Amino acid sequence: VLATTRTFSLVGVTARDVTVEVDVRQRGLPNFAIVGLPDQAVRESRERVRAAIGNSGFDFPQHRITVNLAPASLRKVGPSFDLAIAAGILIASEQLPAIALDGCALSGELALDGTIRPVPGTLPMVERAHHGGLEKIAVPAAVSREAAIAMSLGLEGPTVVPLDGLAQLEQIGTDAEPRCDPLSDLALPSSANGAGPAHELDLADLRGQPYLRRALEISAAGGHGLLMVGPPGAGKSLAARRLPSILPPLSPPDSLEVLRVASACGAPVEGLPRRPFRSPHHTISKAGLVGGGSPVRAGEITLAHRGVLFLDELGEFDRATLEALRQPLEEGRVSIARARSRIEFPCRFMLVAAANPCPCGRGETDGECSCVPTAVRRYEAKLSGALADRIDIVLGVEQPSAEAMEAGPGEPSAEVRERVVAARDRQALRLGGRTNAEMSPAETRAHCALSGPAAALLAAGHARYGLSGRGHDRVARVARTIADLDGAERIEERHVGEALSLRRRPEAR
Ligand SMILES: Nc1ncnc2c1ncn2[C@@H]1O[C@H](COP(=O)(O)OP(=O)(O)OP(=O)(O)O)[C@@H](O)[C@H]1O
Ligand SMILES: [Mg+2]
Ligand SMILES: [Zn+2]
Repeated sequence: VLATTRTFSLVGVTARDVTVEVDVRQRGLPNFAIVGLPDQAVRESRERVRAAIGNSGFDFPQHRITVNLAPASLRKVGPSFDLAIAAGILIASEQLPAIALDGCALSGELALDGTIRPVPGTLPMVERAHHGGLEKIAVPAAVSREAAIAMSLGLEGPTVVPLDGLAQLEQIGTDAEPRCDPLSDLALPSSANGAGPAHELDLADLRGQPYLRRALEISAAGGHGLLMVGPPGAGKSLAARRLPSILPPLSPPDSLEVLRVASACGAPVEGLPRRPFRSPHHTISKAGLVGGGSPVRAGEITLAHRGVLFLDELGEFDRATLEALRQPLEEGRVSIARARSRIEFPCRFMLVAAANPCPCGRGETDGECSCVPTAVRRYEAKLSGALADRIDIVLGVEQPSAEAMEAGPGEPSAEVRERVVAARDRQALRLGGRTNAEMSPAETRAHCALSGPAAALLAAGHARYGLSGRGHDRVARVARTIADLDGAERIEERHVGEALSLRRRPEAR
C-alpha cells in the first residue's frame, strides 16, 4: 500500500515542500529504508519512528517499508520529517484513515515515547503551507505559540493543529482536533507611534555625554552606521545597548520578519518581538558573523535583522571577517553558496561599532598613551579601512565628567524615540519607507539640496578635511537626517555644520 503525506524542509528562513511517500509491502523480509538525500539525522529517524509508533498504541508493521522523501534533489536536514514519516506508515498500514490527513501537512520530531518535540522553522512552514494551498498543518504543541503570535500579527494561514504526541494523530479531522488561535492578550503596536513591547534597557542610564546622546539620536533617526571612538569605561557599550530602545517600534510586518528569523533559528518565541541587539565577540568567524557552515546556519547579521549589530572593539576584528560584511550591508540580505543551491538570509540591521583610540586604549587625550607610533598607525588603518565607508557617523567619546556622573538620570528612551519616529516619518514619505542612510547616490543628489550658506560650508569642509566623493555624500545624508529631526524641509548651514562634526574624531595624531 502506498501513502503520501506532506511536510517541509527548511532552507534559510523559508520552507520548501517535501512529499513523503511510504510503500509497505507484505512480501520479503521486514525492512525499513529511507531514501531521498537524507542526512544523518533523517536516517536516525527510522529508530525514532519505530519506537514512537510502538509506544503510542499503534503497531509498527513487520513488513518491507520504503520511505521516499521527494524531491530527491532537495537536501533534507534535521529531524523534522519524523512526524510525516510516522503518519505515512500509519496510513500505509491502515491504522489511520488517509482521508483524515488530506490537505494537512505535518512537521515535528518524535521522541521514542511518541512525544512530539519542537523543530525549527514552524513559522516559515505555516507560511509555505498557506501558499501551497494546504488547509491544515500539524505542528509540535511546544512551538504553537509562535504560530499564534504570528497570526496575531496578521499572518494568514491554514488551521494550525498543535500536537503533543503521536497518538493525537487520530484526533485530526474529528471534533477532538486541537487548534491554535490568535492570541487576544498581545499589546500590538497600533501605529508607528505605539510603544510596542518595552525594552529592558533605557537611555536614561547614560549620564552626561551630550554629544554621544545626540549622535545616537541622529543615527537612530536616519538609520546611519555609528562608530564611537574613546577610552575604556566612557559608556560606549552602555550607549550601544540602548540604541534599540530609541528606534521606532517594529511594525507588524517587520515583527513577522523578526519572528521568522527566530523561528528558523530555533530560538524560543515567547511574545511580540523587540528589535534585536547582537553583540558578537571579536574572535567570531566569518561564518558565525555572516552565516555559513554545514549545515548552513544564519549568522549574527541575520539574528540582528531589523535591529542592531554592535561590533565592540572594532579594531580587534579580523579584517577578512569585516570585509565579508560589506555586501550584506549594502543589499540587506546575504546569500550563501552551496554545491547544489544558494541559501539566502535577510540581514537589514543598523551597524554600531566601538573602538579605543589606540591599542593601549588611553589615547592622546588622556596623555598617558604608551603605544609605539607604528602600532597606532596600524590600528588606525584598520579602523579607517574595511567598514569605514559604511559608517556614516564617527564620534570621539570622552570620559563623562564627575558632575555628570553625580547628576540625575538622563532623558528617557521614550522621549528620544518620539523625535526619532517623527524624523523617520518624514523620510518614509520622501523615500517610500526607507531611511536616509539607504539613499542611492541619485536620491542623495535629489533630496539633499543645500541652501547657499550650507553649500558653502560643505565646500569649505570638503577642502579642509579632504573629503572623498563618498565622504561628501555621507555628510549630505547625515545633514538630511539632522534637518529631518529639526522638522526642516531645507538643509541649512547649522545642519551641515553638525554633520561635518560627526564624521571625524578629534584630530588623531
Ligand atoms: N556616561 C555614563 N553614564 C553612566 N554610566 C557610565 C557612563 N560611562 C561609564 N559608565 C559606567 O561604567 C561602566 C562601563 O561602561 P562601558 O562598558 O559602556 O564602557 P566602554 O566605553 O564600553 O568601555 P570599554 O572601552 O572598556 O569597552 C558602565 O557599565 C557604567 O556602569
Ligand atoms: Mg565597551
Ligand atoms: Zn595608546
